[in-house]
Amino acid sequence: MLRMNAARDDVKNPLEFSFCGLDFASPIVLLSGCVGFGEEYTRVEGFSNTDAGAVVLKGTTLNPRLGNAPHRVFETPSGMLNAIGLQNPGANHVVHKVLPQLDFTETRFIANVCGSTIEEYVEVTQRFDQSPIDAIEINISCPNVKEGGVAFGNYPEASARVVAACRAATRKPLITKLSPNQTDIRENARRCIEAGSDALAVINTVMGMAIDVETRRPIIGNVQGGLSGPAIKPIALLKVHQVYEIARPHRVPIIGQGGIKDALEFLIAGASAVGIGTALFYDPMVCKKINQGIAEYLRAHGFANVAELVGTLSTNAQIQDCAVSG
Ligand SMILES: Cc1cc2nc3c(=O)[nH]c(=O)nc-3n(C[C@H](O)[C@H](O)[C@H](O)COP(=O)(O)O)c2cc1C
Repeated sequence: MLRMNAARDDVKNPLEFSFCGLDFASPIVLLSGCVGFGEEYTRVEGFSNTDAGAVVLKGTTLNPRLGNAPHRVFETPSGMLNAIGLQNPGANHVVHKVLPQLDFTETRFIANVCGSTIEEYVEVTQRFDQSPIDAIEINISCPNVKEGGVAFGNYPEASARVVAACRAATRKPLITKLSPNQTDIRENARRCIEAGSDALAVINTVMGMAIDVETRRPIIGNVQGGLSGPAIKPIALLKVHQVYEIARPHRVPIIGQGGIKDALEFLIAGASAVGIGTALFYDPMVCKKINQGIAEYLRAHGFANVAELVGTLSTNAQIQDCAVSG
């Protein structure tokens, strides 16, 4: 009996893999802004951070931020608009008060760094560099105050400048979260890799709005918000496929995200890990189901582990810049 148990312990978990040198027990990554600072869902019975390979903490700025005026979230057909406005307690609080409360034996924890200037990104990155955090993700969707509020991430040149500056500030794995709200995500991905990004997160939310026709006012206090959830999944999948073409030769892994509640398509398209955000709001147990679904698929299709499945999409067609859609 003892020998049988020992043999079972030797069997490698097929969902395990190495991401930028970090051991992930599952390809699932819980996404920034959807799980607080890693503690939020642990209050839900049956939920466990151990079901995720990594948890990304809420976006963190140098100083505390109260966020936007309400409404901050609004449900749309197959999706959700949000304009939280990066409400967070500031980098010092997160590093000194939040991180010591986290159980680093459960999963890997990733910081999500935000800023209105390159200097702010660098300062926040430095604070996390001097902390036990496992990796740093830079959210380049923040508005650049010096350039009149346009998002850094919508322009390859601005994205690359943020990445290069943060790269110089840390030796921890650096992940850049790309915006879908731009003309050519491939060019942006290329520039971020050249600037020193170890991994890419694809995609952040798609900008949208909703209107109350009775008051003829925008529903979201910030007028516009980021659309997430199943409505953006086909967009996210195409972006992952496009970015994989650029990232694969550099062996830069992708965390695919956007409307995921079943991960297989994203892994096949080239994502090494899959982000789960909005899906948690309607099913906090979704991670267990996804892990089980991936494991069953690997078994049924003869893959020894999840890494073997990544990027196995079979297509003869080249990506067209101006795709014919009608
Ligand atoms: C309420 C909410 C808050 C978010 N806050 C952040 C954030 O602070 N930083 C960030 O990089 N992304 C943030 N995001 C974007 C998510 O991390 C994720 O990239 C996006 O929602 C797409 O995935 P999903 O469709 O699975 O939610 C937020 C999303 C939501 C819904």
